[in-house]
Amino acid sequence: MLEGSRLLLPGLWLLASVSCLLGDAAGYRRKVTLQSIPGSNSSSANLLHVRAVGRNNTLHYVWSSIGAPTVLLLYTRSESSALRVNWTKLLSASPAGAIWVEPPGSVVYSTAVVFTKVFEYNGANVSALSKGQEEPFYPPYDLAGFSWQSVNHTVNQTALTAKFQGVDTSDPGGAFHNGTISFQVTAYEQGGRDGPLPRLLHTANSSKVEFIMDNVAPRGNSSRFMLEVVTVEEKGGHKRLQSVRSIDDEYTPTIFEMAQLVSEPRNDSIGPSFFQWKTTAYGSREASRENAIRCRYHPLQTANWTLPGPSIAHAYFGEGLGRSHHIAAINISFGGEDGEVYAEKGYLSWSALLGFGTPPKDAFSPLVMAIVVVALGTPVVLLLAGSLVVLFARRKRHSQYEPIN
Ligand SMILES: *[C@@H]1O[C@H](CO)[C@@H](O)[C@H](O)[C@H]1NC(C)=O
Ligand SMILES: *[C@@H]1O[C@H](CO)[C@@H](O)[C@H](O)[C@H]1NC(C)=O
Ligand SMILES: *[C@@H]1O[C@H](CO)[C@@H](O)[C@H](O)[C@H]1NC(C)=O
Ligand SMILES: *[C@@H]1O[C@H](CO)[C@@H](O)[C@H](O)[C@H]1NC(C)=O
Ligand SMILES: *[C@@H]1O[C@H](CO)[C@@H](O)[C@H](O)[C@H]1NC(C)=O
Ligand SMILES: *[C@@H]1O[C@H](CO)[C@@H](O)[C@H](O)[C@H]1NC(C)=O
Ligand SMILES: *[C@@H]1O[C@H](CO)[C@@H](O)[C@H](O)[C@H]1NC(C)=O
Ligand SMILES: *[C@@H]1O[C@H](CO)[C@@H](O)[C@H](O)[C@H]1NC(C)=O
Ligand SMILES: *[C@@H]1O[C@H](CO)[C@@H](O)[C@H](O)[C@H]1NC(C)=O
Ligand SMILES: *[C@@H]1O[C@H](CO)[C@@H](O)[C@H](O)[C@H]1NC(C)=O
Ligand SMILES: *[C@@H]1O[C@H](CO)[C@@H](O)[C@H](O)[C@H]1NC(C)=O
Ligand SMILES: *[C@@H]1O[C@H](CO)[C@@H](O)[C@H](O)[C@H]1NC(C)=O
Repeated sequence: MLEGSRLLLPGLWLLASVSCLLGDAAGYRRKVTLQSIPGSNSSSANLLHVRAVGRNNTLHYVWSSIGAPTVLLLYTRSESSALRVNWTKLLSASPAGAIWVEPPGSVVYSTAVVFTKVFEYNGANVSALSKGQEEPFYPPYDLAGFSWQSVNHTVNQTALTAKFQGVDTSDPGGAFHNGTISFQVTAYEQGGRDGPLPRLLHTANSSKVEFIMDNVAPRGNSSRFMLEVVTVEEKGGHKRLQSVRSIDDEYTPTIFEMAQLVSEPRNDSIGPSFFQWKTTAYGSREASRENAIRCRYHPLQTANWTLPGPSIAHAYFGEGLGRSHHIAAINISFGGEDGEVYAEKGYLSWSALLGFGTPPKDAFSPLVMAIVVVALGTPVVLLLAGSLVVLFARRKRHSQYEPIN
């Protein structure tokens, strides 16, 4: 029996690993370039263009810190579609139409994600909250009013990363005296899994954004932070909030939930668009289980939500953004009763994946599969072995008694 399980475990492992490798190798590949588009002397007017070329299609991710930090996701049916910008118009009071793609008919799906505000509130007294008292909010940080460093020098063509780093210039309380808020962008050429926690699984049709608060001085002893995210969807489509739970937390210890905003499935090969995150943030540059910060999401707001301007979403979708598009907004808060993790190191990092297609989903890892099979298989093997032993013993006894008869 022991021999059996000793062989069973590596065997299963091998089988599962091989099937995983095959799945990865068969993945879609894209040729990705990151480029900061120059055009303005103001460093805050950053425009980062991620171009991901696939077979007969190109994904354009346009990231910008003009107004609220925004990313446009454009799916085009052409390997040579090009992004065009009219900077004069973009920085003017009416930016509608300042960003477009040529040839005009190549865009088959466009959507956007906007990071509008960071809220701070006192989160210590949970009992007071449950008594219906309002969470004591400090004045929010409006990300549209931030001043952002030039993204150009942060572009890393090898790692396919770039970083938007900003401070609140009005900053009456001096919270940004030594602190920054950043959005770190990572593009991918093919499917895989991130090394650092939360070890998100990605596809070639997605990109990652990491929201980082570094050294922003909290305004109270028990401050918690909350990020407001707004999504823009074409007319007719709308985003829904889903929770995906798993019994396997091997890749992200203690976190069993993935949350995602997914648009309606489409009738073509593109699939829906999504915005996905694990319900955890981390309170240190070296993310680990010990500095995990539980993150909660609040109900998705869809009724009559308007997107405050300016942003490149207004520049791309045009003036009628509110009427012709479906806008949804959600608050994601970091930390609860789990102590003052942010206060310890003054650091918070939270990652989300965005892109096209069915959102990636963790399958059971080879390890968990092997454990399950062994756990279920062992009693069966024991039972079989037991029956054989009993059978054999009976026979033996039978043959021993025979001469007496
Ligand atoms: C940008 O700066 C350059 C030199 O630093 C100057 O020649 C140019 O006129 C400036 N452009 C704008 C739009 O301010
Ligand atoms: C790409 O498009 C061309 C012409 O439309 C078509 O012949 C070809 O089969 C397409 N290739 C793929 C991989 O879809
Ligand atoms: C850019 O926009 C400005 C203002 O709307 C317009 O006057 C100008 O002709 C545009 N430039 C191009 C190249 O389209
Ligand atoms: C929490 O709130 C309750 C009710 O408002 C109050 O009685 C209690 O003193 C508060 N506790 C702390 C630690 O502030
Ligand atoms: C952007 O960075 C590249 C390479 O680091 C450099 O060659 C280029 O001059 C920079 N452009 C601006 C506008 O700073
Ligand atoms: C770009 O990223 C690679 C891989 O992470 C790293 O080795 C390299 O030092 C980075 N380059 C710059 C200029 O930061
Ligand atoms: C600013 O932050 C750095 C670490 O990021 C720290 O070493 C330094 O002491 C801080 N300065 C002030 C004035 O808080
Ligand atoms: C924060 O904590 C310090 C020391 O524990 C205390 O002196 C101070 O009054 C507290 N501030 C607030 C706003 O509760
Ligand atoms: C797919 O949807 C588009 C609009 O989203 C519609 O114009 C087209 O007719 C649909 N095609 C099919 C086969 O249903
Ligand atoms: C949305 O706005 C319309 C028109 O302004 C109004 O009739 C409707 O009651 C609003 N809905 C909600 C949920 O506020
Ligand atoms: C997020 O929370 C803040 C503070 O409670 C509120 O003003 C804002 O409307 C909320 N946004 C969403 C999308 O729920
Ligand atoms: C990525 O997009 C391409 C082109 O639409 C599609 O063929 C492929 O299946 C997609 N891959 C995933 C994992 O969604």
